Amino acid sequence: MTRRIQFGVFFQGVNFGTIWSHDESGSQYDFESFRRIAQTAERGLFSAFFLGEGLRLREHFGRVHELDIAGRPDAQTQLAALAAVTERIGLVATQNTTYNDPYDLARRLSSLDLLSEGRAGWNVVTTDNAWTGENFRRGGYLDHADRYRRAAQVVAAAQRLWDADAGTPVTVDGDLVSLSGPAPLPASPQGRPVLFQAGDSDEGREFAASTADVIFSAHPGLDDAASFAADVRGRLARHGRRRDALKFFPGQQFILAPTDAEAEEKAEWVTHAQVSPQTALRYLEPIWGRDLSDHDPDGPLPRFDPTVAEVDGRRGSAFQGRRAKETADEWRGLADAEGLSIREFVIRHSGRRTIVGGFGTVADLLVRYVDAGAVDGFNVSPYLVPSGLDDIVDGLVPELQERGVYPDAYPGTTLRENLGLPTLSSAASAASAA
Ligand SMILES: Cc1cc2nc3c(=O)[nH]c(=O)nc-3n(C[C@H](O)[C@H](O)[C@H](O)COP(=O)(O)O)c2cc1C
Repeated sequence: MTRRIQFGVFFQGVNFGTIWSHDESGSQYDFESFRRIAQTAERGLFSAFFLGEGLRLREHFGRVHELDIAGRPDAQTQLAALAAVTERIGLVATQNTTYNDPYDLARRLSSLDLLSEGRAGWNVVTTDNAWTGENFRRGGYLDHADRYRRAAQVVAAAQRLWDADAGTPVTVDGDLVSLSGPAPLPASPQGRPVLFQAGDSDEGREFAASTADVIFSAHPGLDDAASFAADVRGRLARHGRRRDALKFFPGQQFILAPTDAEAEEKAEWVTHAQVSPQTALRYLEPIWGRDLSDHDPDGPLPRFDPTVAEVDGRRGSAFQGRRAKETADEWRGLADAEGLSIREFVIRHSGRRTIVGGFGTVADLLVRYVDAGAVDGFNVSPYLVPSGLDDIVDGLVPELQERGVYPDAYPGTTLRENLGLPTLSSAASAASAA
């Protein structure tokens, strides 16, 4: 395995992780924000610029989440615009398989792949069902297991359309996906778009092991990342795939500075700007199942128990399926042990996936990740847009290059080459040899 770490950037339109109220904050939907961050990432030799998908505005107790009102523009449209102002960075669109139709999706992703000369990726998600589905004529229409069955059929159909010569008839006849028509477009320089996957359940991991090139995971801590990778790699053989066939890119936030002390100081203002008193209360509300605006964010966590048994899917995938009382007890225990207020607790809890440190310290830590084989890269969420990658590109990347674990130039021109993925023909022969 190559001893190398890579970065992608995950532009988070809707999340309190990005500070939108600072003097340096740009807009979350102006093209200028996207252009500057993508070009900075490319200057730092990032492999991919990555966008989520949200087909419905998020709600919180019946009110639309205020950050969502500015919206999350359609990923493929934004990436097509970015293809014109970048040359090497991969352009990855999250697109769900539950509400999108495979012919349309395959054609649009092929178009992005052709326009960008082989830089497109598709992050395959099944998405939250009932909540998103109310926006559609179908409504919430598939349970969890069928969402993954449909995902497998949608991706297989897209691959058939991509691998056939343009104009060749393709017929797919599955119980959840059927289509018949000529393959719409020729292959791009990388053959077809790279497949990412995000979804953490047993079915999600199995689907990734059978199909994906890269996993965008929510397991960034060193031990957690290593056990997640071991679990998923253990599934590859039964799909006829080699242990190095799949790359792991957990989501991660970095707060960096020239020295550790300066980074700690920066973390203090970043985390307080991310978690306003109101944000802190909203963080608890899904667990307690009620409006907590009458609570003091500088006081202790609520003493009464949640009014719900389980946190419902509308409250965001991070909380989905959590037992409310168990979670409340755990959080109260953690806060009480250190005498933390609501706001201080939320800062600590929501920031547990952030790496804080001087450039050299963090570079040493990332070398440990590489040596442990735990990750191939990180999908970085900048806390400020558009300047939030500057520290990484100007401070951390040179330290990693000095340690010999970061590329000095893009290895190729396509996303597949830049991620170090096998070309499609050798991937096929490796699969048949395994
Ligand atoms: C790191 C990560 C990022 C995700 N990003 C999105 C997204 O942008 N849009 C979306 O609809 N779902 C997204 N999902 C949710 C997945 O689509 C999936 O619906 C959810 O995780 C449930 O699948 P699971 O039970 O396999 O985890 C993401 C999931 C993970 C783990």
